[in-house]
Amino acid sequence: MVLNVFLLLFLSTTEFSASAHRILILSPIATYSHTNFLKPVVKGLVERGHFVTYWNGLVTENQAKDFLNQTTDFYNQTTNFRLLYSPEKPNNVIFDLPKRMERYCRTLYRDPVFHQLMDSQEKYDLIILEAAINDCCLPLVYKFDLPFIYIMGSMPLPWHLDAIGSPLAFDHYPQVSSPFADEMNFWQRTYNMLSGIGAIYYWRWMVMPVIDRLAAEKLHIKNLPKIEKIEKHYLNLLILNTNMGLNYQLATTPVVIQAGGINLGPPKSLPDDLEKFVNGSGDAGCIIVSFGTYIKNSALPDDVRRLFLSTFARLPQCVLWKWEDDKNIKHIEPIPSNVKLMSWLPQADLLGHPKMRLFITHGGVNSIQEAVYHNVPLIILPVLVDQPINAKKAQDDGYAIRLHWDNLTDDILFNAIQQILTNSSYAKKMERVSELMRDQMETPLERVIYWIEYIIRHEGAPHLRTAARKLSLHQRFLFDVMLFLVIVGILMFYVFTRVFLYLNGKGRIEKCDLKKTN
Ligand SMILES: *[C@@H]1O[C@H](CO)[C@@H](O)[C@H](O)[C@H]1NC(C)=O
Ligand SMILES: *[C@@H]1O[C@H](CO)[C@@H](O)[C@H](O)[C@H]1NC(C)=O
Ligand SMILES: *[C@@H]1O[C@H](CO)[C@@H](O)[C@H](O)[C@H]1NC(C)=O
Ligand SMILES: *[C@@H]1O[C@H](CO)[C@@H](O)[C@H](O)[C@H]1NC(C)=O
Ligand SMILES: *[C@@H]1O[C@H](CO)[C@@H](O)[C@H](O)[C@H]1NC(C)=O
Repeated sequence: MVLNVFLLLFLSTTEFSASAHRILILSPIATYSHTNFLKPVVKGLVERGHFVTYWNGLVTENQAKDFLNQTTDFYNQTTNFRLLYSPEKPNNVIFDLPKRMERYCRTLYRDPVFHQLMDSQEKYDLIILEAAINDCCLPLVYKFDLPFIYIMGSMPLPWHLDAIGSPLAFDHYPQVSSPFADEMNFWQRTYNMLSGIGAIYYWRWMVMPVIDRLAAEKLHIKNLPKIEKIEKHYLNLLILNTNMGLNYQLATTPVVIQAGGINLGPPKSLPDDLEKFVNGSGDAGCIIVSFGTYIKNSALPDDVRRLFLSTFARLPQCVLWKWEDDKNIKHIEPIPSNVKLMSWLPQADLLGHPKMRLFITHGGVNSIQEAVYHNVPLIILPVLVDQPINAKKAQDDGYAIRLHWDNLTDDILFNAIQQILTNSSYAKKMERVSELMRDQMETPLERVIYWIEYIIRHEGAPHLRTAARKLSLHQRFLFDVMLFLVIVGILMFYVFTRVFLYLNGKGRIEKCDLKKTN
């Protein structure tokens, strides 16, 4: 995970055409999960003949490390791998955000590239921001005074949907961290809504003010508006790493685009030695094991690692395990002959190989998309953020088995592997969802390029903004209207009962009167 650091100026080789635009792309956190979804867009724009300035990392190694240190520290708190997936941990990520944001902004506002851009006289037509915790870049949007686009490498976050005026869909769309599916009962909807609204206000009241303070302190921009205002004013398109065949459905405005699978395509052939190993597996085929870039295998407790190895030893399949430091393991215990540890896997190309039977993964969004695209069923051991909900959806759709780190045993793992390998139901469901994922009018990249150019052609396309962007949250939920109606209802009830009692009382008096006269 090296941060490549510099300001890249791509000058396209194609002829300059009247429709070539100048686009500034800001993605200073250059870790894999932050850029994997963005890079195909950069490449696609360059190939279309646009002039692209792409900030793909913080400048000096030390400064890059400052940000990385926090990441490492966070994951290092969880040396016991099983603790990683305890319910408290995701909260730690969330409650840590103001501090992380502060360190990140400080690093960013010291970076020479940031200042180079701040002082730049260059004219651009559009800015694209990588969307995950990248709000510290928003002062640049204000400086250039240009429409901007968010590219989000996973599901939408509620504060992004709110900023762009798209429905928040708390009734049918589970939050990223939610344990629920899309069909929720009363209490689940209550939880979903409270956590969604809570997240929006947390972002607005706890995180964004940190950026406001640091921007005021470090940047000396005259009359710099609040970050929240800049975002709401200039944001014109939200591109999500989701796919209609794969993810829960979500009602959105036209300026929320789904482009999941943008980096997928036909597999390339494997290096010779790998091809030989995979092809050597015969009819049994192969299994891929990878827990992503964040989860270090060195953090696996010894018994869990042994559990995996002893289970794999019982299989006729070959097993390719992404293992970032093979030195570490080879001294500890023998590796079964059908298992190959590799510090890096050409994961998508392997999944596209006809011999692949199963993918054991942590359930990151890119891993699931690659598996679905190449039609390989899954066993998912999710750890944090959106992985549990990805796992749940995949299991509910019948093409994956979800297991838990806390009670993993040889038998549970072995049985799950056997189910996937022998029960055709998983392969059939996977085939179906794979078809759904590929059945699209145009490729995700074509869609994204079209919309980016559309936003430029129509100067931000303000006609596509919903009026919801001008409403506050309680207005968007019609809380004010409902409160009014409830009050009117109560008043009417009150008046009605008074009148009724009055008339009733009067009737009785009349009756009494009648009795008396009798
Ligand atoms: C980041 O880690 C390096 C060593 O890995 C250390 O030298 C440096 O001081 C750390 N930076 C911060 C800000 O903690
Ligand atoms: C994790 O923390 C322990 C002690 O808290 C330390 O000894 C170790 O070097 C850390 N590992 C990394 C990768 O930072
Ligand atoms: C794979 O193995 C079979 C024999 O098992 C062989 O005929 C074939 O040529 C091999 N394919 C490649 C690409 O090596
Ligand atoms: C493992 O633990 C999870 C909760 O952590 C539970 O939902 C699941 O049923 C357990 N599985 C088994 C086989 O005990
Ligand atoms: C195959 O998997 C499906 C879905 O999990 C399950 O309903 C079915 O009972 C399984 N069949 C066998 C023979 O295990």
